[in-house]
Amino acid sequence: MSITNSSPAVSSGVGPRRRYSLAARALFTAMDLLYGKGGSVRKYRVLEIVARVPYQAWENVAYVAITHTSDTPTFAREIHERVVTVRDQQDNEQWHLLILEEMLHSTGHQRTLIRDRLLPQLIAFTYYQVSWLLYVLHPGWSHRLNADFEDHAEHEYFSWAEDNPELETTPWESVFADDYGHHATVADLFRSIGADERRHKLESEAQMAVPRFGDR
Ligand SMILES: [Fe+2]
Ligand SMILES: [Fe+2]
Repeated sequence: MSITNSSPAVSSGVGPRRRYSLAARALFTAMDLLYGKGGSVRKYRVLEIVARVPYQAWENVAYVAITHTSDTPTFAREIHERVVTVRDQQDNEQWHLLILEEMLHSTGHQRTLIRDRLLPQLIAFTYYQVSWLLYVLHPGWSHRLNADFEDHAEHEYFSWAEDNPELETTPWESVFADDYGHHATVADLFRSIGADERRHKLESEAQMAVPRFGDR
């Protein structure tokens, strides 16, 4: 995660895409139809609104699990440690969102009611319900969906930096730089965000094989 200052530039090293599930493909297709097939800061802002919600859903389920396991403090503590991890990832997504919001605002983009306000909320609400339900039924399913989402985001951000060479010489300044990490150029910033998404993906892939609370 890039929360320290003066983070070094991140090299690409993007591997092949995961084999996306039907649910993930449906989401990516809907995003392409609504916000265009190519990348854009406007589209990535929506991606980041949606990116936080699985972590919120998992945190919610974990807190309920802590309530029901508090008579076994060691186990409850183990669940709490999961909460701390997902909260950290959620906060990381939040910095991504705030940085992209700031970037979009600086271009003078005027938000539209449907595509910039209502639809992102609707997509995030639906995605939250799906992530929550999958997590309750079988956490590995929810982690798999998130791994697909994060893999897609990782590829999007690295491609965006590569496809827009002018970003290599565009300095990045932000009121969130002290919180997220300082990067010399906008290209470095996007590669850093892409590396964060890769880390989220790897964490979800690792969690796919872990049994749910109470099954171990
Ligand atoms: Fe993100
Ligand atoms: Fe992510």
